Amino acid sequence: MITKIVTITDKTNVNDEELREAAEILRSGGLVAFPTETVYGLGANALDETAAKKIYEAKGRPSDNPLIAHISCMEELPALVKEIPEAGRKLAEKYWPGPLTMIFPKKAVVPYGTTGGLDTVAVRMPSDPVANRLIRLAGVPVAAPSANTSGRPSPTKAEHVIEDMNGKIEMIIDGGEVGIGVESTIVDVSGKVPTLLRPGAITMEMLEETLGKVEVDPAILGPVSGNVRPKAPGMKYRHYAPQAEMTLVEGDMQAVVEYINREAKAAKAAGRKVGIICTEESRSCYPEGILEVIGSREHEETVAHNLFAVLREFDERQVDCIFSESFSRDRLGQAIMNRLCKAAGYHIVEV
Ligand code: TXA
Ligand code: MG
Repeated sequence: MITKIVTITDKTNVNDEELREAAEILRSGGLVAFPTETVYGLGANALDETAAKKIYEAKGRPSDNPLIAHISCMEELPALVKEIPEAGRKLAEKYWPGPLTMIFPKKAVVPYGTTGGLDTVAVRMPSDPVANRLIRLAGVPVAAPSANTSGRPSPTKAEHVIEDMNGKIEMIIDGGEVGIGVESTIVDVSGKVPTLLRPGAITMEMLEETLGKVEVDPAILGPVSGNVRPKAPGMKYRHYAPQAEMTLVEGDMQAVVEYINREAKAAKAAGRKVGIICTEESRSCYPEGILEVIGSREHEETVAHNLFAVLREFDERQVDCIFSESFSRDRLGQAIMNRLCKAAGYHIVEV
């Protein structure tokens, strides 16, 4: 298949003509990758089981891992969900459109092929002007996982999508780099107490401010062992994984820097190609070489923004092992550490 690549010239002034063909592809059961404010998504008609199936094929994704249905405005929600619980209404008012996904009891029109066999459906209303307008023009809810090959870091630039999806899907819309860089926050509002299933840019602190009590699914905090079943099935897979073996180093900054320098030197002496993930604040503490600055501790949103691109960069450079600094686990740090821990396969060293 030849993948058509469409470049959006001005995101702040999206022209419907640039999106009409993409909308038509979605309506007729094809696949289109498009930018959102979090990461690039791989879209298909969420109500068409055959189309949803194509997403699983293109990504090489296990079919029990459900998809998020994307809508463009509140009026499109009741068609998909049996009820809108109070918590869902409050969060929608405050954070939609935006980087928040909510789990609702699903209506029968949403096929099990989209929800991975579950009776609930994940819904998100993206704020990105290209994503939002595309969904509106398509006239159908758009199922869209991140547009990466399953297991690889999520795509934050069109080039990442081209790497993984070229030749496998009908169209890629290039809207430049995304803003946030980590996937949406997922909150299950279908039960008694709202539960955080995946941390993102809408932080736990923000959710609690709006809702009061919010529970956290244990799968967010650590590796999933045999007897824990994450409520978001996708959280159980090794994710975001760079090809190299990655070690996340936690502790006092001075000790972290010393540990990383020592281990990097030893690995290099053993003939391994080493990568180091550091920050603006610490870059001068390491020898020049395969350093990637992930962002600035003072502005954690820069760390989220660069995270997946840095992991892909190390794949490109074919390093054998990566040592990474860690971050605090509050606010946006929770989402950052969740992705880094998974990338490291929970190989965390305390120093
Ligand atoms: O930011 C995002 O959410 C991006 C952009 C494209 O919108 N999408 C995204 O999709 O990250 P994906 O498929 O990579 O992640 C969806 C997550 C998976 O962990 C999946 O298991 C969970 O949402 N999920 C989907 N439907 C669910 C449901 N009914 N119940 C629980 N978890 C669900
Ligand atoms: Mg994903």
